[in-house]
Amino acid sequence: MQLISNIASLRELRRAWQIEGQVIAFVPTMGNLHEGHLNLVREAKKRGTKVVVSIFVNPLQFGENEDLDAYPRTLEQDSKHLEALGVDVVFTPTVAEMYPRGLEQQTFVEVPGISYMICGASRPGHFRGVATIVCKLFNMVQPNIAFFGQKDFQQLQVIRAMVKDLSMNLEIVGVPTMRAEDQLALSSRNGYLTQEERATAPALFANLRDLADKIELGRRDFSVLIAEHRQLLADAGFKPDYIEIRAAETLLHPGHEDQHLVVLGAAYLGKTRLIDNIQVFLNK
Ligand code: PAF
Repeated sequence: MQLISNIASLRELRRAWQIEGQVIAFVPTMGNLHEGHLNLVREAKKRGTKVVVSIFVNPLQFGENEDLDAYPRTLEQDSKHLEALGVDVVFTPTVAEMYPRGLEQQTFVEVPGISYMICGASRPGHFRGVATIVCKLFNMVQPNIAFFGQKDFQQLQVIRAMVKDLSMNLEIVGVPTMRAEDQLALSSRNGYLTQEERATAPALFANLRDLADKIELGRRDFSVLIAEHRQLLADAGFKPDYIEIRAAETLLHPGHEDQHLVVLGAAYLGKTRLIDNIQVFLNK
């Protein structure tokens, strides 16, 4: 496994792989890898002849009062996991390599509409930061296939929209969320939870599961359901950010014709913001 931190070396290797006709599978990450990330890598190994994983804590996607400085950086441990899985390249650029003209001057990619709602409303500029870095990474790695977790469902749909809008020549694969035994979605931010908060955290998934079940059983009074489930989250000890029921592809409020929905939730436990979602497939 090669650790590469500059774009020129990555490009050189990519050129050689192009000549060899390799299929490049790519997993972008911010490091502090858990089983959810490793599962993305396993999926990438199934589809690509070469696997590249990037580790870059992207300052452009963090808000002013967010956890950029506290975000765990665990490169040594991450590299061991990736080596064991047979990853070919770990790309670990510096901030200066990625943003040579500085963050203020950086050209950005913005996917309008879908970036502004739900998590985007709570975290202004977040999806602009995500789309920009993912676009840049795609330009550097030039993958044939890229893998993203469904846990960040809105991020996945923003990236799909960007790829479509900008006619990017690659396939985006969404990989189902990995969960702890008590169903808490795996996330690097779970490490911030106190013991007590960790015990409460699975109630977010349980809340969304219950909501999804009600929709599957025929309830269509979505605003009533959302209000009820927001209150239930608060009763369980969370500070709710949102509960939403949306059309899965567009993330718009669903109409009668929408058969593929997603219920999404975000809530704070102490200072930690947790998100989760469940897709719902309705029968005609
Ligand atoms: O999901 C993440 O870890 C990040 O948002 C990503 C896609 C690596 C971009 O920085």
